[in-house]
Amino acid sequence: MEVFKYNEFKNDFVEDYDDIKLCKEIGNDLPVINNLDDLIKELEVIFSSDKVNIDLVHYVMKSYKSNPADWKKFAKFDRFRYTRNLVDHGNGKYNLMTLCWGEGHGSAIHDHANSHCFMKMLQGSLEEIRFAWPKEQGERLQEIGRKQLNVNDVAYINDSIGLHRVENPSSVDTAISLHLYCPPYKNCTVFNQNTGFKSTSTVTFYSAFGKRIKENKEIMEPEDN
Ligand SMILES: [Fe+2]
Repeated sequence: MEVFKYNEFKNDFVEDYDDIKLCKEIGNDLPVINNLDDLIKELEVIFSSDKVNIDLVHYVMKSYKSNPADWKKFAKFDRFRYTRNLVDHGNGKYNLMTLCWGEGHGSAIHDHANSHCFMKMLQGSLEEIRFAWPKEQGERLQEIGRKQLNVNDVAYINDSIGLHRVENPSSVDTAISLHLYCPPYKNCTVFNQNTGFKSTSTVTFYSAFGKRIKENKEIMEPEDN
């Protein structure tokens, strides 16, 4: 699905952009987001268009100020590893989910299967470490950037930027992040940092719409879709 229009796309972390310019680009007032429901509804509006403005997605995710009352039911933790909890299936165009990170939990180094990935912090802090794609087989992955993400920060990555690993560096605090993947994907590639060896990983949900689901069970679309 080629829906994204890249505005001033920077091959780096997404930083501040010009709200007035963004306002002109969308030809409308910027949306006001007061809670998670507003964000879910606004994302649906944005992605109903054939061309999605990447800065606008970033803007609305940034505009939402994290409130635990909004996302409590999507905050489900596992003792041993981080969990993925589906919040909204975005009419098949994208997936919105919370990732719940226990103390010290982290991901493997992975790509994003040609999808766009937005990540907003809801609670705690995470560290994002970026790597260049390996040029040769057997090559150790080279770190190209590192950033701490705090509550309400939003990060963006896609495969042209590189690979990354995300981890909760705290040994005392949990962390929760809200991720949007467009289009949704079931498999991505994970990498060994030392050898560059890659393998396919299937991503699964721990819960969907606030309810715990069995491992590897397919998410059923709601019947009205
Ligand atoms: Fe990722």
